[in-house]
Amino acid sequence: MSERRRVRIAAQYNAEDPYEIWHPDLADELNTEDSFRKVAAIYREGLFDFYFQAETAALPMGEKGVPEFRVMGRLDNLVTQSWLASLHPDLGFVATINTGNNLPYDLARRLHSFDLLTHGRSGWNVVLGGNPHAHVNHRAKAVAERDVDRYSLGLEIVHYVLEALGGGRSAQAPAPHHFPAAARLLPAARQGAPFTIQAGDSARSRDLATSYADGLYTHYSDEVNGTAFYRDIHDRLRRHGRDPRTVKIYSRLAILVAENADAAREKHKALLPYQLHDNQVRRYAEEIWGKTFAELDPEGPLPNEAPAAGHVVKLGLSYGLYLDGPSEKAVARLHDISARHGGSLSLRETLILASGTHYIMGGPVEVATELRRLVDLRATDGFVIAPHSAPHWLEPFVRHVVPVLQDWGVYATRYQDETLRERVLREVEV
Ligand SMILES: Cc1cc2nc3c(=O)[nH]c(=O)nc-3n(C[C@H](O)[C@H](O)[C@H](O)COP(=O)(O)O)c2cc1C
Repeated sequence: MSERRRVRIAAQYNAEDPYEIWHPDLADELNTEDSFRKVAAIYREGLFDFYFQAETAALPMGEKGVPEFRVMGRLDNLVTQSWLASLHPDLGFVATINTGNNLPYDLARRLHSFDLLTHGRSGWNVVLGGNPHAHVNHRAKAVAERDVDRYSLGLEIVHYVLEALGGGRSAQAPAPHHFPAAARLLPAARQGAPFTIQAGDSARSRDLATSYADGLYTHYSDEVNGTAFYRDIHDRLRRHGRDPRTVKIYSRLAILVAENADAAREKHKALLPYQLHDNQVRRYAEEIWGKTFAELDPEGPLPNEAPAAGHVVKLGLSYGLYLDGPSEKAVARLHDISARHGGSLSLRETLILASGTHYIMGGPVEVATELRRLVDLRATDGFVIAPHSAPHWLEPFVRHVVPVLQDWGVYATRYQDETLRERVLREVEV
């Protein structure tokens, strides 16, 4: 290989369905001060680019209230990460924050403090919402979501923040519409405009992200969907007149490392019942087939029935990425996954492997090889690992996979005193 491409690693905590674990023995560890502190120490030891936190703008509500079998609740990420930055000054931090649920001045002010407290190693994962329950929790005065286009509102808020922290109005900024123009916040933040990464998938979301963001956050990282996404994003960047080398793509990834492939497979099997609760298996199966099942065994094979005629699956981005659409296609995909594993997978395991997040399991060298292969293929530039929700989960990755990547010269061996933007853009040292 003529060029060594850097493998970028960041990680999330907590994770999300279906890789979060609701294991009753681990439940106490999920959202405590102690677990966040342990996780940050492990991510720092692994020289990860940043510690990433997702945002749930409103608890998922079913007809019977909050479901019991999912890991629920998240700490406010700017509060949590500002505290963690005082414990680990050289770690980077990326907080997911919705645009339209916030008033721009308030958001800019909090991101400004965040950048000062993290020595310029802060980032904002820009999400544009779409949760109809969220505005009740967050938005005191701003426009109701149903009354606005969330992309144009999002773009206006993003540019307000960039201007307030960066001090200048970008050529691509829309005319202020809902809010007055931003004034510069002082003292100057180390990296000026915050490092921004945008999560999204639709054409409008990609187009918006490529107009301003420093990075994209996606589910795609495999050789088919990842390479297609990568090419599409680079094309859009060129159309916006931007150099694709100045923007990096991070892909969400689930990982399971053990001493070797067999041990990883055993560990995976042991976790399955905790990864997708029986009620979730039923919910997903019924949504995919478009019918209710009198009997459904999560450990049994896929239901041997045709889906309801004309049914369209709507599971949403996280789970439905490859399943949403005509039911026949989704059921065929499940059968295909099961067949590729010798037809012996249970319904539960098939559903887990069919979710939108790419899952890599194996021994240290296998995992490192796969990460490097995907980066070399230009299926992505790096990964945000979404671990099972237990604080120690990524310890084997840090102790056994990171050293392999370092030996190959594709991974940092120390932190430098740099901003998060500089860290993310850094290539391998020759
Ligand atoms: C990898 C990924 C992670 C995401 N994480 C979150 C999140 O933590 N919180 C949230 O409210 N939305 C999250 N979203 C959803 C975004 O809010 C939404 O999809 C995006 O802003 C634009 O929407 P669109 O792709 O449907 O156009 C995520 C999306 C992706 C692709």
